[in-house]
Amino acid sequence: MGTLILGIESSCDDTSAAVIKDRQLLSNVVAGQDVHRKYGGVVPELASRAHQQNIVPVVDMALKKAEITKNDIDAVAFTRGPGLLGSLLVGTSFTKGFTTALDIPMIEVNHLQAHIMVHFIQSKESDSLPPRFPFLCLLVSGGHSQLVVVKDYHKMEIIGRTIDDAAGEAFDKCAKLLGLPYPGGPHVDRLAQAGDGLRFKFNKPRIGGFDYSFSGLKTSFLYFLRDHLKEDPEFVEKNRKDLAASLQYTIIDILLNKLRRAMKETGIRQVALAGGVAANSGLRKALKAEADKGNWEVFIPPLSYTTDNAAMIAITGYYRYQEGYFASDDIAPLARMYF
Ligand code: KG4
Ligand code: ZN
Repeated sequence: MGTLILGIESSCDDTSAAVIKDRQLLSNVVAGQDVHRKYGGVVPELASRAHQQNIVPVVDMALKKAEITKNDIDAVAFTRGPGLLGSLLVGTSFTKGFTTALDIPMIEVNHLQAHIMVHFIQSKESDSLPPRFPFLCLLVSGGHSQLVVVKDYHKMEIIGRTIDDAAGEAFDKCAKLLGLPYPGGPHVDRLAQAGDGLRFKFNKPRIGGFDYSFSGLKTSFLYFLRDHLKEDPEFVEKNRKDLAASLQYTIIDILLNKLRRAMKETGIRQVALAGGVAANSGLRKALKAEADKGNWEVFIPPLSYTTDNAAMIAITGYYRYQEGYFASDDIAPLARMYF
């Protein structure tokens, strides 16, 4: 038997559906949207349209891959927010229609909490033991950079957040200045592997507490390039790998400095990584090294669960289902959503 949850994710530019049976992932289908590439960023109107085109085929494929039919599903979990409202509306409306037709409950999920919950998925890619409560999570995505104390499956406290740009935004905006396609994070990662991260120095923020700031780094990177391009118009071409590596080194340094402080002050000994930027190979390596040094236990998610996906929505939905946290019929998505 077991509980079968269908997860739906449509908060930004990935349409995704996943099926989970208890904690075991049966399928996770993600359709990206190439339509934004030529604009150098996500165009909200185009994203909503692409979700509308993708959602039914993506759900269909997720059910097929899981080898179940819609009648086997116990509940549908969907991303209520935060995200682009038009994109969220597609997933929410689909969920309402689908659950009404089948007369099953729907479960609202916070996208950010869901990123953290990937650590509880059981699958071929992740068969290790999950973190125990409480643990600290460094949640780094395109829209958010947070330090979260995870107290249980539902109670999470944000102790630090970015006051301006997110880490993923810093990657993407600086990548654009290097002439790289959107989203630039993975391209910076690839180039950085062949570059010297200590060659160039950029400004690091000086803000108190556990909060982050990345807009100063972006400005410092912009001015640095502008000054050097005046002297040599081919500066970026000649130094792209070292620029990418130095940028990545600085972002990781900023992230880990605050994390180190948070680990010390909270006394927590387990740290988990989550969000799209958790795919960064430099960050994954640096966090493991930091954990060895600090004698912390470290939890790094499989690559396929770092960027947006519905497996994370389904696993969060599974735990909410156990508590009977069901959404009412008049639920609407939220562009900003807190926890
Ligand atoms: O979590 P996510 O898929 O979407 C949001 O909820 O924002 O994160 C997307 C972000 C983008 O900024 C993207 O550039 C970044 O994650 N990203 C990376 C890598 N893969 C994705 N950043 C650095 N290195 C990577 N390998
Ligand atoms: Zn995300």
